[in-house]
Amino acid sequence: MALAGSAVGLGNLWRFPYLVGQHGGAAFILIYLGCVIFLALPIMLSEFIIGRKAQANAITAFKKLAPGTGWYLTGVMGILTAILIFSFYSVVGGWGIKYLVDACTLKFVPQAQDSFADAFSNFTADAAAPVVYHLIFLALTVGIVVLGVKKGIEKFAKIMMPVLFVLVIVIAVRAISLPGARAGLDYLFKPDFSKVSSKTFLAALGQSFFSLSLGMGTIITYSSYAKRDESVIRDSVYTSFFDTIFAIIAGCAIIPAVFAFGLSPHEGPGLLFVTLPYIFASMPLGSAAAILFFISLLLAALTSSISIIEVAVAFFVEHFNMKRGKAVALCSVVLAVMGTLCSLSLGAVPQISLFGKSLFDLFDYVTSNVLMTIGSILVVVFVGWKLGKKVIKEELSNNGTLHIPDWVLNMFSFLIRYVSPAAVLAIMIF
Ligand code: PHE
Repeated sequence: MALAGSAVGLGNLWRFPYLVGQHGGAAFILIYLGCVIFLALPIMLSEFIIGRKAQANAITAFKKLAPGTGWYLTGVMGILTAILIFSFYSVVGGWGIKYLVDACTLKFVPQAQDSFADAFSNFTADAAAPVVYHLIFLALTVGIVVLGVKKGIEKFAKIMMPVLFVLVIVIAVRAISLPGARAGLDYLFKPDFSKVSSKTFLAALGQSFFSLSLGMGTIITYSSYAKRDESVIRDSVYTSFFDTIFAIIAGCAIIPAVFAFGLSPHEGPGLLFVTLPYIFASMPLGSAAAILFFISLLLAALTSSISIIEVAVAFFVEHFNMKRGKAVALCSVVLAVMGTLCSLSLGAVPQISLFGKSLFDLFDYVTSNVLMTIGSILVVVFVGWKLGKKVIKEELSNNGTLHIPDWVLNMFSFLIRYVSPAAVLAIMIF
């Protein structure tokens, strides 16, 4: 459940639809599915093998399994990646809180329709409000991690996750039945390969890593807490399957509405927040649906943000023997500043940019498309070539207690030794 909580989050609801919009729809989705099955899934299993074998955080795990080598730097990179991801993730989480407040104050009603288009850009261009919301999101994450109200949020998430799932389906049904939604469905399901370029592949690949929390230590950290009799194959397959279904349905909820309301699919990171108010305003009990939706979106985001921060916290606690509270405090100071810079870079202080991208866009781009990608290559090479088949077999079969057919083992080894590193590297280079 915790792993699914980490995987399902803003990546599915916010990031996937905006990438589908930007990268031409159906063809992107097909490439994404290929990336999940042939690349991301084996990478997830590899991280599981490292984490559960070593039973330690992302850096110590490599030190334990390959003592005296430089492999631990993979973990160091993972922690840095986690900090960069959290910086923009918590800004988007803050937008979710702002929209929850708007939903509660009945802003998403037909009478207000004229203001929807500009509301998002006006909000993000403001200096103070988005920063305050980001800090609230950070405080919520930190509060959960420090106070150890994990049990509470787990219970709450167990109820709200299915609620979110049902709501996204309801919203998708509403969106698909809107007049003019047909063009959106065509966009989603009729692939146009003429628009596919190497950028489409990189975006799909990076998104599969982002959505499944790969290549930066989250899976290693979480699986270090997993029991020895847990089936890692089952956990990985379920998580990937559920996460992917969630993303596709989110796409079906957003893209048809984008076309029905004459919005642009190329909107970028604002797509979800620009589109949703129109959908809620057009549906019966829209405000109630909006409130429920944003509460559950927030919970989905929190169960992911906890797993991002945990990568760094686990390291500080285990390596420096730091108290959990102190480790979290240290992280939160850094994250508060970085998130604030990301938020300001979107409008209030556009000078906070590098390589022609705002800091927000840069972090969003670089983490999935470069850092998690390199991290993933290192992980599969480590498991495939350094740990080798014996360890793979032990971990996948729980020391021989589960029957794993030889062809599964051989295929997995082949995938992680040759296919994954070569394919991921090729996509990056092109
Ligand atoms: N997978 C999460 C989501 O889709 C984001 C995430 C990335 C979580 C990396 C942990 C590590 O929202």
